Amino acid sequence: MNFEFTEEQLAVKEAARDFAQTELLPGVIERDNKQEFPTEQIRKMGELGFMGMMVSPKYNGGGMDSVSYVLAMEEISKIDASCAVCMSVNNSLVCWGIENFGTEEQKQKYLTQLASGEVIGAFCLSEPEAGSDATMQRTTAEDKGDHYLLNGTKNWITNGNSAGIYIVIAQTHPEKRHKGINAFIVEKGMDGFVVGKKEDKLGIRGSDTHSLMFTDVKVPKENRIGEDGFGFSFAMKVLSGGRIGIASQALGIASGAYELALKYSKERRAFGKEISQHQAIQFKLSDMATSIDAARLLCLQAATLKDQGKDYVKASAMAKLFSSQTAMDTTIEAIQIHGGYGYVKEFHVERLMRDAKITQIYEGTSEIQKIVISREILK
Ligand code: CAA
Repeated sequence: MNFEFTEEQLAVKEAARDFAQTELLPGVIERDNKQEFPTEQIRKMGELGFMGMMVSPKYNGGGMDSVSYVLAMEEISKIDASCAVCMSVNNSLVCWGIENFGTEEQKQKYLTQLASGEVIGAFCLSEPEAGSDATMQRTTAEDKGDHYLLNGTKNWITNGNSAGIYIVIAQTHPEKRHKGINAFIVEKGMDGFVVGKKEDKLGIRGSDTHSLMFTDVKVPKENRIGEDGFGFSFAMKVLSGGRIGIASQALGIASGAYELALKYSKERRAFGKEISQHQAIQFKLSDMATSIDAARLLCLQAATLKDQGKDYVKASAMAKLFSSQTAMDTTIEAIQIHGGYGYVKEFHVERLMRDAKITQIYEGTSEIQKIVISREILK
């Protein structure tokens, strides 16, 4: 692994940092309070190329590598983890999935809009009874010749209402279990497709998480991704890359909280000196900095393997497992360093702690990451 970033990678990091500080920071507390989707901010992120970073320029993407993506995700997540998850789902799950497994027609029709940020994408796998056990898809896609008839409910869908293009996973041949599952591109506005209730969440409250209902939705056959029965394998492959995005989100939440705690510790005085001069605080800062560096290295390792075309299944699961734990630990300690100020909204760290928790749950819980890692070690 190269420990030196290229000039281009550093420029991406700088651009993401500038954008986050000037465009995301000013309204982030209000958006969290009001559960307001960052429509204008996401539009600008599209203009700056953050919504389709790794997509080929041929399809309106930035043509960047996964290392640049990790660097940008960290900077955006330091300030606004809600914008970051929207960016991550669009880049890692939806764009990457269509670019790598879609037909040329699907790429021209859908990927070009998703990569430019003109339209946002959503990835619909989870169901009321299929979360960690993703094989248990109850949503059905009946083959009707020139189209599929989609019926069922999806839960916990990030970008649920703000999206215009959805990748929906559904069961076509129940007797084949996971080998009978398919993935489809579904457009908002198709007859029978209804966006359900918005979840009132603990964290990432600026992002919109909805249930979705499909009743006899006619999905053209050409909207199926890959061969018949490829859907589960597709979902697993997409999620392996997605975990690099969520690991980087967790890393950003951790480093954002750490930067705030470090600054505060040099400003706040107690017992006649800055609190950073007390060993109790120094131990906390040292632990935070060490874990964050380790998390960043794991994220960059997974991204580098992906960029090199090597297997990154174990590496991305390790990055997500460790970074999300680091996000939880670091944000809790950042509140502790802030004392009472850490418990109020104005100082940002309480929000970062609430945002951190979801990184141990979505795109596979920490327990799922351990299953993935142990299978890779033992195989
Ligand atoms: N890449 C490619 N194929 C894979 C794979 C991978 N990483 N992992 C598994 N597969 C394949 C296997 O090879 C196997 O194929 P064959 O039968 O042809 O050999 C098939 O998939 C089934 O594999 P398993 O027997 O390992 O499946 P399992 O039922 O034991 O489950 C699991 C494995 C890792 C637990 C999986 O179910 C999983 O990852 N669950 C978590 C799902 C998840 O992350 N959900 C999050 C929802 S999306 C989200 O959160 C997005 C958002 O909004 C932010």
